[in-house]
Amino acid sequence: MDVFLGEWLNLLIRWAHMVVAIGWIGTSFYFMGLDYTLSKHERLNPGVLGTAWQVHGGGFYHVEKYIVAPAALPDVLHWFKWEAYLTWVTGFGLLVVQYYFHAEAFLIDPGVMPLAPWQAIAISIVSLAAGWFIYDGLCRTKVGSNAVLLALSVFALILIASVLYTKVFSGRGAFIHVGALVGTIMAVNVFGVIVPNQKKMIAQMIAGQTPETRFGEIGKQRSTHNNYLTLPVLLMMVSQHYPFLFTHPQSWLIVALIIVIGAMVRHMLNRIEAGAGWDSYGWVLPATAMALITAIFVTAPASRVTTGGAVTDLEAQAIVGKHCLSCHAQKPSHPAFKEPPKNVALETVPELRRFAQQIYMQTVQNRAMPLGNQTGMTDDERDALGRWVTGRK
Ligand code: HEC
Repeated sequence: MDVFLGEWLNLLIRWAHMVVAIGWIGTSFYFMGLDYTLSKHERLNPGVLGTAWQVHGGGFYHVEKYIVAPAALPDVLHWFKWEAYLTWVTGFGLLVVQYYFHAEAFLIDPGVMPLAPWQAIAISIVSLAAGWFIYDGLCRTKVGSNAVLLALSVFALILIASVLYTKVFSGRGAFIHVGALVGTIMAVNVFGVIVPNQKKMIAQMIAGQTPETRFGEIGKQRSTHNNYLTLPVLLMMVSQHYPFLFTHPQSWLIVALIIVIGAMVRHMLNRIEAGAGWDSYGWVLPATAMALITAIFVTAPASRVTTGGAVTDLEAQAIVGKHCLSCHAQKPSHPAFKEPPKNVALETVPELRRFAQQIYMQTVQNRAMPLGNQTGMTDDERDALGRWVTGRK
């Protein structure tokens, strides 16, 4: 497809993905918060678990939550499911246009595993499906009835997936797949469990039976998982713009810290909404701070001292010519690009100087560039480019 139209397609799907994801996460936050703020103080209608008074946009709202279901089915029932479904559909679309169409540029790193694009795509699809089935299986076994054990198992599952992904994909590809795996679990939770269970309860009501509480409880469990995964998954999605995250040699450790930090922050916000006392969640702050400091510490660039003499402009240009210009030129020769990516062209010495700090970050400190190390850049060449930027000998 025309590269320019491909970029537009990418942009439109990304835009749609953000819009529906914001809608979905918004409802997740809203309903979790609502559940925590339900009050039992006022006189409740029969079957009502709690109520909440809310103000928004100039009006007052009075919401009642039923323990299982109301005695009679209302005529109109508003569902919250399309946000979730469309978030997955647009997310998968983005995976296709960004990573499957350009598998050689973004997904595959020949230094990690020399995959053919179809192999990388097959691994991607199979692994996303497998992740769901393992997660769902865990929830349905005995482990599923113990919240802490289940949380630890799901955490382990995501970390094992991270390790496996870094063994087959580029750093970038691995990170987006961890995000995609978690996102898939969240979306199928809605599509495959929460909504079907709700429908079963409705069917029981229509049949004149009392709906089983079990269905609602399972739905609530999955919905809570989703809520705790929202913050980590958001960071995984934007991780692509921060090579210090995905180029780390033990990037699974970074994934672990992101999950811990995101889930703890979410937990703290949930406790605050529940009106819980500081003593019940105060521990979260130092724990989160420690995890964050650890993440900053382990991603800090190692200062490599190299000696090999001063590097001239001409030598730097030669290295860049060999490893960067196929993409970073006004007219790239690489088939995936029609213009220099991110508008970074590196053909002249003034251009090299202008982007020197970014070149240093992307090539010397992190190994994000050359993309997927497609040109097989050596450590010596990286060091030499680093010496040119810093002016060291
Ligand atoms: C195969 C194509 C390709 C090659 C080769 C390549 N790059 Fe890139 N480069 C990209 C793409 C694609 C992006 C945009 C990445 C993104 O969107 O995060 C990029 C982005 C960059 C950026 C901007 C990063 C930012 O987010 O500000 C710099 C700087 C850069 N590359 C430097 C280099 C250098 C230096 C080399 C050679 C050592 C190189 N690139 C080789 C494709 C390539």
